[in-house]
Amino acid sequence: QTTLRGAADELGKDIGVAVSYSQLMNNAQYRNIVATEFNSLTAENAMKWDATEPSDGNYTFTQADAIVDFAEDNGQTVHGHTFVWHQQTPSWVQGLSGTAMRAAMVDHINTVANRYEGRVDSWDVVNEVVSDSNGAMRDSFWLRAMGEGYITTAFQTARAADPNADLYINDYSIEADNAKSDRIYTIAQGLVGQGLLDGVGFQSHLILGQVPSTMEANLQRFVDLGLKVRITELDIRIAMPADSSELARQAQDYERVVSICAELADCTGVTVWGLRDGDSWVPGVFPGEGAPLLFNDDYSKKPAYNSVLSALGDG
Ligand code: G3I
Repeated sequence: QTTLRGAADELGKDIGVAVSYSQLMNNAQYRNIVATEFNSLTAENAMKWDATEPSDGNYTFTQADAIVDFAEDNGQTVHGHTFVWHQQTPSWVQGLSGTAMRAAMVDHINTVANRYEGRVDSWDVVNEVVSDSNGAMRDSFWLRAMGEGYITTAFQTARAADPNADLYINDYSIEADNAKSDRIYTIAQGLVGQGLLDGVGFQSHLILGQVPSTMEANLQRFVDLGLKVRITELDIRIAMPADSSELARQAQDYERVVSICAELADCTGVTVWGLRDGDSWVPGVFPGEGAPLLFNDDYSKKPAYNSVLSALGDG
């Protein structure tokens, strides 16, 4: 029987899923579908700073190791997420002086990147560094303590720690050609000039019926800089309850996004941000919205599953 994984393998693309450590450990059906339907994994939370270095110098890799082991056992690639973010970073980091914060960042990236060298294929080195207002830099504790150079420091450190990993900058609401993606473009140009950047991750947390009309051209301009592009956290949320026409519309939206990547040689693949609708972060953050993924809670396939399969060239 045809799977997303089979179709993506044939196409030479990644079809990825963000996985939860606890589901992967405790739920055989979840494990089975993750292994059969996907050829790439991202840890939904287990590689973030609060999970890997909760206190200064005390590294905890149980969860991240389990996910990387699972991927290796199943012949899957791993997209690492993430070193430098303004969320899920412990308060001990946030309170440091610029000099001490730089040292903590360098130690953290070196330790995590070295541990997974050769096993994690690519990293979201920085995540969500641009704000939502007119493409200004995000006013984070990183920026306030270290200045804009924190981004270059992160990439230089990651490059030296694992020269073979592909290094990405990752963000949301940059799928369209807009002020925010313009700022990412400027940052990307600077990093490319220093040989520090390999790709741009377009998270793609989308709303039903709102796949941007400029998405294809926008990805292309990053490819034209010599970069890879990747859809890193795809989900398409619906105002609940979702009826059958909305699920059909969602399938069309998924088909469009996956087709854009399928038809772009330098798009490395698409990762969906969770397996079942009930696994998604969406209802917790956007009350009244949900059903954004490819599988129902009973693991049955939604219409969007079939449209992704067809966008990957099968089904
Ligand atoms: O680990 C604790 C657990 O001990 C506790 O019992 C439980 C009670 O709420 O919380 C658990 O932590 C939660 C964590 O997920 C792990 O499940 C946090 O509260 C919750 O806030 C956290 O949410 C994650 C969110 O990032 C944090 O900002 C979501 O699962 C995750 O899907 C989401 O992913 C982000 C990407 O990393 C970056 N792009 C946006 C995307 C969606 O927000």
